[in-house]
Amino acid sequence: MRLKALLTCCLLFTAAGCVHQPQQPTKSEEKEVVKLGNAACRKLMATLKRNLGMALKEGGLPGAIEFCSRQAQELTEKVNRELVLVKVSRVSDKFRNPKDRPTPLDLKVINYFKEKLKEGKLPPYKVVKVKKGTETYFIYYKPIRVGAFCLNCHGDPRHMDPEVLRILREKYPYDRALGYKVGQLRGVFKVVIPEKALKEG
Ligand code: HEC
Repeated sequence: MRLKALLTCCLLFTAAGCVHQPQQPTKSEEKEVVKLGNAACRKLMATLKRNLGMALKEGGLPGAIEFCSRQAQELTEKVNRELVLVKVSRVSDKFRNPKDRPTPLDLKVINYFKEKLKEGKLPPYKVVKVKKGTETYFIYYKPIRVGAFCLNCHGDPRHMDPEVLRILREKYPYDRALGYKVGQLRGVFKVVIPEKALKEG
């Protein structure tokens, strides 16, 4: 009896595991996904950069943090309303905003990028195909690396502006996104693309 229960449990577990098991996309699917994924990332990046630039000019680094904490999520949602079918976001294993927390699959891809980066072979992107029930979708991941400028707000706290640190601590009491070095993987752009978007696009 106990064995049977154990077996049922194992079978259920594997069946549940299969549903979300990522698959390899075909070559032509990957080509389409890369096109849509890249366009979505570029749009989000350009929007964030433009607005961050304006905030920096107006209020320096503290002003820019105020901007990020109020606007980063809002601007991401705005970009997604314009993109309609696909959804772009940023996620990180060491997230600052809990909204950027990775799923187990995201984490797997982030760790894959980290391994590759260590070998000096970081690929420009990674595409996975996910089947969930009757639904099929793709996820396009693009690595985000740390540049020198990023250290102003993501670097070693000992070398950061005390005012910047104070604001960060106030806004993000559970901040994990400090202590980075130039070149490290800060996170990923993640673009979820339903199969439907490929056919229509
Ligand atoms: C002026 C300070 C500041 C600078 C400079 C800055 N960031 Fe951030 N960053 C933030 C804040 C604040 C957040 C949290 C935004 C939110 O609440 O959604 C954030 C969030 C992020 C996220 C989303 C994941 C997370 O941790 O929540 C990524 C990725 C990121 N930053 C990468 C970078 C990169 C790459 C650079 C350099 C090109 C950079 N940042 C420069 C302040 C900054």
